[in-house]
Amino acid sequence: MKRVFSGIQPSGVMTIGNYLGAMKNFVKLQDETESIFCIVDMHAITVPQDPKELKENTLKLAALYLASGIDPNKSTLFVQSHVPAHTELGWIMQCVGYFGEYGRMTQFKDKSAKKENFTAGLFTYPALMAADILLYDADLVPVGEDQKQHLELTRDLAERFNHKYGETFVLPEPYIPKVGGRIMSLQDPTKKMSKSDENQGAFISILDEPDVIQKKISRAVTDSLNTIRYNPEEQPAISNLLTIYSLFAEKSIEEIEQMYAGKGYGALKKDLAEVIIQGLKPIQERYYELVKSDELIEILKEGAERAASIANRKMKEVKERMGFIV
Ligand code: AQP
Repeated sequence: MKRVFSGIQPSGVMTIGNYLGAMKNFVKLQDETESIFCIVDMHAITVPQDPKELKENTLKLAALYLASGIDPNKSTLFVQSHVPAHTELGWIMQCVGYFGEYGRMTQFKDKSAKKENFTAGLFTYPALMAADILLYDADLVPVGEDQKQHLELTRDLAERFNHKYGETFVLPEPYIPKVGGRIMSLQDPTKKMSKSDENQGAFISILDEPDVIQKKISRAVTDSLNTIRYNPEEQPAISNLLTIYSLFAEKSIEEIEQMYAGKGYGALKKDLAEVIIQGLKPIQERYYELVKSDELIEILKEGAERAASIANRKMKEVKERMGFIV
C-alpha cells in the first residue's frame, strides 16, 4: 500500500485554496493509502506568530482536518512539534542542501520580497519540509501547485543523501489536482490565495460566515470584458471564479459557462457565493461540534505516538548511516 504524507501550516484559518488544492485530496487518499497528515507548526514560525493565536490556530486546524473528513481511524493526524525527529532531520537536510538551491525557491523569493528582515528559517523552510516527507518514506505528497518546487528539491536532497550514504529515503511524487491546484486571490488574480494575506477580502476562510462570503465574492475583482468564459490568460479573475464554482458545485467548467451564457458577472457571483456557502456548511457544522470536544487533544496525542514510532526508526537509520554514535 502506498504511503501518503502532507501538512498544512496553522498560520491562519485554512482557506478554500488550501481546501480545494490539498485537503480534498487528503480525504480522498485516506481510503486508498496509508495516510499521515500533519499540522506543521514549526513551519508556521518561519514568519512571526502570536503565541496565543498559534495555539488557537493549531487546534482549529486539527478540528478542520476532522471536519473536512479526515478520519483518525484511517489516517494518522498529529502536530509537527510533537515529533522532534522532524527538526532533527530538518537540520541534517539543511546540511545536505546547498545555499543556492534554497535561494532559488520562489516561495522564499515571494515571502522575503520587500521585507527588510526575514528569518533564516524562512530561507531553509524546504529542508524542514523535505524532512517531514522523508521521515515517513512517503510515496505520494498531495499538495497545491505552489509546493511543486519544494517537492522537487525534496527529491534532489533524498537522491543526494542516498547516493552518499546508501539507499535510505523513498523519492516522493507530488500529487496535484488538475483543477484547483492553484486557487487565486479574489483581489489579485495573478497571486495565489493565501491564508496569511493581509487583505481579508483576498481569501475565503473555511469558517467564514455566509454574509462574509457573499461580501467577499461580490467584491472580488473581475474585468471589463463582461463575458463568462474560462480563459486564464485573458480573464484570470473570472477563470478563477469559474474554477471555484466548478469544484464546489461538482459541475464542469463548460457546463457553468453554458449556464451563464449571455448573463452578467453579478448573476455568476450571486450563485457562486451560494454554492460556496452550501459547500462549506457541513464542514462548519462538524467543526463547531468538534472544537468544543476533548477528543481533539486525545486524537493528536495518539497520532503523535504513531508518527513518532515511524519517524524515530528512520532517524536512527539516518544517524547510523552518517556516522553518528547511536
Ligand atoms: N491558493 C491555493 N490553491 C491551491 N492550493 C493551495 N495551497 C495553499 N494555497 C493554495 C496548498 O495548501 C496546502 C497547505 O498550505 P500551507 O499552509 O502549508 O502553506 P502555503 O502553501 O504557504 O499556504 P498559504 O495558505 O499561502 O499559507 P501562508 O499564507 O501561511 O503562506 C499546500 O499543499 C499548498 O500547496
